[in-house]
Order: sequence, then structure tokens, then C-alpha cells
Amino acid sequence: MVSTGATVQAGEDIAHLGSGASVHVALRSADGPAAPRLVRPEYAAGWLALTADPAPLLGLPAGSDRTRERDLLDRRGAAFATVQEHYYANPPRIERGWRHHLLSTEGRSYLDIVNNVTPLGHAHPRVEEAVSRQLRRLNTNSRFHYASVVEFTERLAGLLPDPLDTVFLVNSGSEAVDLGLRLAMGATGRHDVVALREAYHGWTYASDAVSTSLQDNPNALATRPSWVHTVDSPNSYRGRHRGADAVRYGPEAVAVIDDLAASDRPAGAFIGETFYGNAGGVALPDGYLAEVYAAVRRHGGLTVADEVQVGYGRLGHWFWGFEQQGVVPDIVCVAKAMGNGHPLGAVITSKDVADRYRDQGYFFSSTGGSPVSSVVGLTVLDTLRDEDLQGNAVRVGGRLKRRLEALADRYGIIGAVHGTGL
Ligand SMILES: Cc1ncc(COP(=O)(O)O)c(C=O)c1O
Repeated sequence: MVSTGATVQAGEDIAHLGSGASVHVALRSADGPAAPRLVRPEYAAGWLALTADPAPLLGLPAGSDRTRERDLLDRRGAAFATVQEHYYANPPRIERGWRHHLLSTEGRSYLDIVNNVTPLGHAHPRVEEAVSRQLRRLNTNSRFHYASVVEFTERLAGLLPDPLDTVFLVNSGSEAVDLGLRLAMGATGRHDVVALREAYHGWTYASDAVSTSLQDNPNALATRPSWVHTVDSPNSYRGRHRGADAVRYGPEAVAVIDDLAASDRPAGAFIGETFYGNAGGVALPDGYLAEVYAAVRRHGGLTVADEVQVGYGRLGHWFWGFEQQGVVPDIVCVAKAMGNGHPLGAVITSKDVADRYRDQGYFFSSTGGSPVSSVVGLTVLDTLRDEDLQGNAVRVGGRLKRRLEALADRYGIIGAVHGTGL
């Protein structure tokens, strides 16, 4: 059945349908009842018993069997450590995605508003085609000479303002943050780092050291190494200073940075998300990063921006979170959206900072910037541009926000509507 209400019989040509038409395909035996187009989940098992199994059509394994599903969960539990959690207590088995939809083996489709690494949506044909082509040709590493790594590096550098022109390619956000911190330490010759509370920056040694979120790790503040110094989370909604009082966070952070310098431990780096992704998509108070960056630089330190979650166009109005704050960091760490789910990360800094890393030894990542990764990175950037997905984040995010704000006007239980873009 097409969206106009016309019915297409089996074997009929549907090539004449316009590109915006949606096609509803139902398989049923000739003498079976016509299943409704949508049913409530509690009736799904009954209707599925009366209709043909749609799973193979969706590219899913045939016939969901609850005993087998339980077995799979138990096997995962046995092979995984308990710290590797699921999103859900009773997770649906998701084996297929298309654009912003996820499909479970029980035949339910979900709108994916959890996943923050797939700005192009799931199973994008352009990525699939580019990756398969490259996998058929070659996948080596960046010590070999090939065009895609040069093109991708130039494209990334071109997305950043001067003097950020030098790129290191890695495989994840944790690696990017780790390297970003090590670049700052190498360039300044200092080990002390100032980080925001309520932050998550990754799982490697250094990125975990600056991760202070009590929600992720209830012992975080008590167990940070001595080179990590934290400042209050500048959260204008849940923090110590709320609403207009949030302007007080900047001077307080500056005082911590000044005190460190006065006690002969000037910070080598300040690291923070440029828009509070981990704390719920809350913008930092206006002028916050300008004040903090100036203080760090006054004492000879460098500023590291974690754009892993909020950067790459997701904010809609800004490609990078630091643009919203009107600052330019010394080191930018990015990942997640860059690869649309493929492991990709990068650190972008100035030639000057990058060159000082030479004294630390050397840098090589076996798969960071491989031909396949570079092709993925280029294809994601092309598609973001060609499908105007940053513009889409402005439009759809704006509409979502307006509608949520209207709900907040009506229901006192909604405390605030944060965020920008998607
Ligand atoms: C702000 C931020 N930084 C760093 C990371 C670590 O990235 P990855 O999981 O790719 O290692 C995350 C991951 O959630 C993040 O949200």
C-alpha cells in the first residue's frame, strides 16, 4: 500500500511511484486475516502468528524465539565484565538500522534518539558503498603513502580556524583526549591539568584521570591522580550557581588556576567539553571559556577542547562547540560523529604544539587514518554537506525544542529544556 492510499498488488511495477512515496509491504497467506498496519506491542505476538514472518524482508534473522534471545543475553553476560552495561534492563535485540530507525528481532521499530555517533543515520548507502569499494582495494596504514589520508587530513584542518592546521588521526574519543593531553604536557613540559567536574572524557589512563562524573563513577573525585585539579561544573541548571548567578563559575575557576600557578604548579592544560554534553546538553555560561582560557594561557598553559560528543555539526548553529563560546582552543579532540559509527578520532592543533611532541618520542596508530578510515571520514563529511545535516539539526532540533518548551509551559514537572540542534 502506498502512502496515497493506493494498493499495489504483488508483481505490480512500483517504479512509477515518486521518490517521496512510502511503500507498505505486508505478507499474508491468501486465506489469512489482513493484519492492521500498526499494532500495540502486547498484540504483536498474536498477529505475527497469523501473518508471514517479516524478518527476512528486513534483513533480520527469521523467527524471533524468546528462549534463544534469553540464551544470547546469558552468553553475553558470561563473556562480558559486569562493568560493560546495556542501555536497558531488558534490551531488545537490535540487528538492523535504517536512517534514524532501529529494528528489533521482535519486529518492533524504534526511533533512535539515543545513539550519538551516527549523524548520517544507520546503514547509509554512501558509506556502505565507499567502505566496500575501499576494502576491496586496500587497507594499510598511514606510514604508507596514499591520497585519502592526505585529503581527509586537509579537510579536517580546513574545518578549523587558524592556527589549528595539524592533524593526528586516531580511533576513538578516548584516544583523542589522551593524545590531546599528552600533546599539551609535551609542549608545556608540565603535568598538572585542570578539568571540569561532572565530565566524562574516556576510558584510557589519561582520559579517565580527567573524567570526574559521579554518575559514571561515584568515587571519581576521591580517586583522581594528584596531577588532576577540578573546578566546579559550570552547570546553570543543577549546579551551585543557577540562572543568572552562573556568571560566578568563570571567576571561581580562574581563582583555582591562579592558585595553582601561585603554588608553583601552573597548569599545563585545561580540558573541558565546550558545551556540556555529558551533563545533559547544557550550554556553558556566556563568556565562561573566554575567561578560563585567558587565565590558563596567562600562566603558560594550553587549552584542550573535548568536541567528541558536541562537535561536528550536531549543535546545528555551530559546527564546533567552541564557536558558541567565541573562543579558539589550542588543541581540539574529536571522534564519534566523524566516523558515523566507524572507529575514528582526531586531534587537531597548531604545527608549533604538534612539533614539540617530537621530544616525547614518536606517534603512530596502526589503524588511525587507514585508507578505509580516511574514506569513511571523507564520505561522512561529503554527506553531512550534501544532505545539509547541520541545517537539518537547526530545523528539526529547533522544532523539537519549541515543542518541548511548549510542554514545559504546561507541565511544572519539566524543569528546563536545554540544548541546541540535535
Ligand atoms: C565528551 C566525551 N569525550 C570522550 C569520550 C570518549 O569517546 P570514545 O567512547 O569514542 O572513546 C566520550 C564518549 O562518550 C565523550 O562523551
